[in-house]
Amino acid sequence: MPEPSAVRVVVLVSGRGRNLQALIQARDAGTLGAELVAVISQRDDAPALDRARAAGIPVQVVQASAYAERTAFDAALLAATQAFEPDWVVLAGYMRILAPDFVRAFHGRMINIHPSLLPRHPGLHTHRRALEAGDAEHGATVHMVSEELDGGPAIIQGRISVRAEDTPDTLASRVMEDVEVRILPFAVRALARGELRWRDEGVEYRGRRLRTPLQLDELEEAP
Ligand code: GRF
Repeated sequence: MPEPSAVRVVVLVSGRGRNLQALIQARDAGTLGAELVAVISQRDDAPALDRARAAGIPVQVVQASAYAERTAFDAALLAATQAFEPDWVVLAGYMRILAPDFVRAFHGRMINIHPSLLPRHPGLHTHRRALEAGDAEHGATVHMVSEELDGGPAIIQGRISVRAEDTPDTLASRVMEDVEVRILPFAVRALARGELRWRDEGVEYRGRRLRTPLQLDELEEAP
């Protein structure tokens, strides 16, 4: 059972929920240090919802099609998220652009996982674009969320080598399996421990301002 004082995390999802599953696994292993208090989905058919239910996490669907106006949807999403009183909001494959009010409400308390080595390839179709650009390396980034799409300060990245035979699908699989499911739990653990902080529009990790993102391979090699 989570400790009553645990850091409260609300996870926003849209899709398959593999990143969410990585957080659930870390929680179940007792290594997350945070309570997953709710999963909010943008779609009622997201497989991520089944993963959340199976893990005993309250779920809520806030679907844009249920609202006549974008502003009503935005207000409903903000209210639904605030109702769970999160310390942090984690975007784990959330595929809608958030309203400025939502971003402001969780300023310095919201992270996102993006499947590229930001600042390369913000936005969609990152795996295809990495191949088209002839990138030798690709990966994923966890970053703080700012009002600029995929533009907030980066926290941690993991990289893989691009192979000659790679397709967007093979790249996507390796980025997910080798990088995403490792860097997201790392970031949540660090923020739960108070090791990650937002200060002066930047990120501090263990009291030191991050000028470049942490690198997964270096962290895993460290004693
Ligand atoms: C991930 O690649 C994430 O980085 C991107 O969308 C995908 C979501 O996958 N934003 P899942 O829902 O975690 O399986």
